[in-house]
Amino acid sequence: MKSDMLKLLKKNKDEYVSGSNIGESFGVTRTAIWKYINKLKEEGYEIESVPKLGYKLLKCPDILTYEEIKDQLETETIGRNVVHFDTVGSTNEKAKSLALAAKHGTVVISEEQTGGKGRLGRNFVSPKNKGIWMSIILKPDVEPMKVSLITQIGAAAVNNALLNMGIESLIKWPNDIIINNKKVCGILTEMSCELTMVNYVVLGIGINVNVDSEDFGEDVSKVATSLKLETKRAVDRKKLTGYILNNFERLYENYVEKDDITESISICKNKSILIGKEIRVIKKGEAKKANALDIKTNGSLVVQYESGEIEELISGEVSIRGKENYV
Ligand code: BTN
Repeated sequence: MKSDMLKLLKKNKDEYVSGSNIGESFGVTRTAIWKYINKLKEEGYEIESVPKLGYKLLKCPDILTYEEIKDQLETETIGRNVVHFDTVGSTNEKAKSLALAAKHGTVVISEEQTGGKGRLGRNFVSPKNKGIWMSIILKPDVEPMKVSLITQIGAAAVNNALLNMGIESLIKWPNDIIINNKKVCGILTEMSCELTMVNYVVLGIGINVNVDSEDFGEDVSKVATSLKLETKRAVDRKKLTGYILNNFERLYENYVEKDDITESISICKNKSILIGKEIRVIKKGEAKKANALDIKTNGSLVVQYESGEIEELISGEVSIRGKENYV
């Protein structure tokens, strides 16, 4: 009801819609209308009410509800069900708790995370209304082994989506998006599976969209940045969310339905910040110098150590750093 009313107000944006028109359209009383209008105002919609004229929608809030992102969506399943929160500990945790009963493609989005999780037990700074903190629930019919490639499909989708917004970025295998040598996005994939089948996958994507340097704090600022800090302008979170979900659905379906990972891997390769560079491979706290050579179609990063030994790394428990710094 609330969303139908919003639809009507949006259709007539900047015009008055009379109470009797709303009442007739939805068969509700004036008191009920007033209650729904108040709920919308609480969500941040600016609505003017003038006796005898009715209600006029002046401004929509900068929030990532289904209502606010759906105009950007060209997908069939991904993002067609959005569970939106004002604040949450971690959208990945929330998504995992909802996953078994949720439809494939459900997206859990929060305006803020108080306990955002990164890989290898790290924290992920997620201030209110300044980023895209979301987790996509997926139910792929693939073997558990094949799930790690979904992280790279996510990275390719984010890289493409940023390009759609006119923003160039690079990919740091397997799960970071980089601008000017700093991280703007991290991806954390979690899954529940049996020996040979996947129950669900939660693909968590965190993008520092309009985050300010004060939000990061001094230490994190050395390795992280935001789209706003790099482009010197506020970036539209709704549009970007739509582009990510649209790109993701196409690349994901290529993989899961057509067994075709070529486009995602070629994006990860062409936009790799590591290939051709001297890096450090950190395994169980021990760092080893290597040259990054290639990314294979199974998603592994091929490196060559100083000894000449070549290894194909799978994402799991390794961290990659630049020769001296983060990248
Ligand atoms: C990393 O950089 O190591 C991965 C960061 C992943 C952050 C996202 S934000 C949305 C989702 N919820 C979480 O708690 N983490 C992921």
